Amino acid sequence: TGSLDAKMKSVGREYFGTCADRNTLSDAAYEAIVIAEYGQVTPENSMKWDATEKSRGVFSMSDADYLVDWATSHGKLIRGHTLVWHSQLPSWVSAITDAATLTTVIQDHIKGVAGRYAGKIHHWDVVNEVFNDDGTFRTSVFYNVLGESFIDIAFRAAKAADPTAKLYINDYNLDYAGGKVNAMVALVTRLIAAGVPIDGIGSQAHLIVNNGAIPYMHQPLAALAATGLKVALTELDIRMTLPSDATKLADQSSNYQTAVYACKRTANCVGVTTWGVSDKYSWVPDTFSGSGAALLWDENFAKKPAYTGATAGILA
Ligand code: G3I
Repeated sequence: TGSLDAKMKSVGREYFGTCADRNTLSDAAYEAIVIAEYGQVTPENSMKWDATEKSRGVFSMSDADYLVDWATSHGKLIRGHTLVWHSQLPSWVSAITDAATLTTVIQDHIKGVAGRYAGKIHHWDVVNEVFNDDGTFRTSVFYNVLGESFIDIAFRAAKAADPTAKLYINDYNLDYAGGKVNAMVALVTRLIAAGVPIDGIGSQAHLIVNNGAIPYMHQPLAALAATGLKVALTELDIRMTLPSDATKLADQSSNYQTAVYACKRTANCVGVTTWGVSDKYSWVPDTFSGSGAALLWDENFAKKPAYTGATAGILA
């Protein structure tokens, strides 16, 4: 009995969470499921740079405030997402060419956003998607101007802005062994040795039904956890080619069980966040045309077989 979140807590973890924001929480059916089943919310878009600081020094926080107020009044933890990311980045930031200015801009942005919610955020995704799949650093204004020191700068600024939040680095395609996982391990090992305040690694886990890596995804997760940091699955969804059918939904359920169990079987894995609640609202069809149905509730808010799979993964 009990919610997904209660079950996660019953096995010693921090939460079972979902992304949300004002737009989805304004759908009463969506909101009711978040209230009933989830213990943590991650702002899907409202805390990103293009939402919070469109012009330098001018902060627009109403949607982020909405999410924080909603979470606080409903007793949900918050995973702040995300402070430094190459995407959804205003062009005034991308145009910066000198290191001193960009350093100040990063510090001021983090102070403005993370500082505003100091003491209220459980985890922060401080930097997001800094690697290419081969483990080289991704080209971005941050890397081009500052080299990898932008990561150190961002974590130190986040610690100063909100000393109690646990600070995470977050990325996708950490579900299989390879260059990206190796690079992540090397980076966080360097950060720890340098005394940079970092607490965890988020593995987004945007998966595809029956992808061959899923049965082995606990292995790279264990490699990340072997750094001594906490780990979490931060954006889990498992998409399929549309239309869905009973076979695909059953396979998806099995895949959810495996993915959630990958966290459960990893001692340092503190929680699982799905990237949404209902197939009515998901980034997947907008990005991967012809794919979707990636979440635990269908577009009519009926529980899918995947809900049972996720539950089994928690309790396995
Ligand atoms: O806010 C504008 C709105 O003013 C405009 O009218 C509308 C028209 O397209 O677009 C709105 O912005 C959209 C935004 O979501 C807010 O709804 C963007 O087009 C759309 O691209 C954006 O998509 C988000 C995507 O990140 C952007 O990269 C998705 O909702 C969000 O789920 C997705 O989340 C990311 C994580 O942050 C990082 N990991 C990958 C994950 C999936 O891409």
